[in-house]
Amino acid sequence: MSGLFVTGTDTEIGKTFVSSLLIKILAEEGLRVTGMKPVASGANKVAGVLKNDDALFLMQASNVDADYKSVNPYLFEPAVAPHIAAEQAGVEINLDKIKKCFEQLQTKSDVVVVEGVGGWYAPLSEHTTVADLAETLCIPIILVVGLRLGCLNHALLTAQAIRQSGLPIAGWIANHVEKDFVFENENIKTLKHFLGDFPFIGSVPYALNHDQVTQADQNQSNIKIKEYLHHINKKTLINNFTVKK
Ligand SMILES: Nc1ncnc2c1ncn2[C@@H]1O[C@H](COP(=O)(O)OP(=O)(O)OP(=O)(O)O)[C@@H](O)[C@H]1O
Ligand SMILES: [Mg+2]
Repeated sequence: MSGLFVTGTDTEIGKTFVSSLLIKILAEEGLRVTGMKPVASGANKVAGVLKNDDALFLMQASNVDADYKSVNPYLFEPAVAPHIAAEQAGVEINLDKIKKCFEQLQTKSDVVVVEGVGGWYAPLSEHTTVADLAETLCIPIILVVGLRLGCLNHALLTAQAIRQSGLPIAGWIANHVEKDFVFENENIKTLKHFLGDFPFIGSVPYALNHDQVTQADQNQSNIKIKEYLHHINKKTLINNFTVKK
């Protein structure tokens, strides 16, 4: 299995935006890359069929044709916490089913970039959280820190919980989700200090166009995955990210 699991300090901090950017950067390196949004709440009708914006955004960035139901096996119409939406719909989110979809996407991809839902401990059922989903997929974790007031505490708490999972840590990314965030360098310096064991993958600037990830966003971000790929055989790198539990 080769993949990356993208989690974040909160909801609405740029997981989808950064995941899409990662997909494009990896694709530019000649890899076949698919995005996945296993669980989503909030849906719109597209040609009469309910779909989720995050899943569509990731699919748009991907360079592999994938069927919607594999990319987004669990979709709930109301934009509420997924375990509540699931309960209301009388559905149990089954992590093994998600793993099967992931493996299916894997057969035609070099890397599957999986976006979590909410933050690391967002519940998926009475018994499971996003952390259990990540453990089921057993792929390296990327922590996206949405730079805004409160992000230091959220980042440190999330990092501690990720460490406890024992999953491989790919690193963290600083995302400029707010246009006028002040003291960004000081905040990044603080995060680098406290997240010492998490490699700093890079930062993503505030983007003017929110509808899609543009070439300018790619050029302006300093995501070091690209550098790693230049130095190490790309497939080996991705496989090295993967550990079997
Ligand atoms: N670097 C950025 N520059 C400008 N806008 C951004 C950036 N990152 C994210 N955004 C915007 O912030 C909003 C939230 O981003 P996004 O949807 O990626 O968050 P998320 O963490 O995936 O949210 P959710 O928990 O709903 O999945 C979106 O409108 C997105 O376009
Ligand atoms: Mg999202």
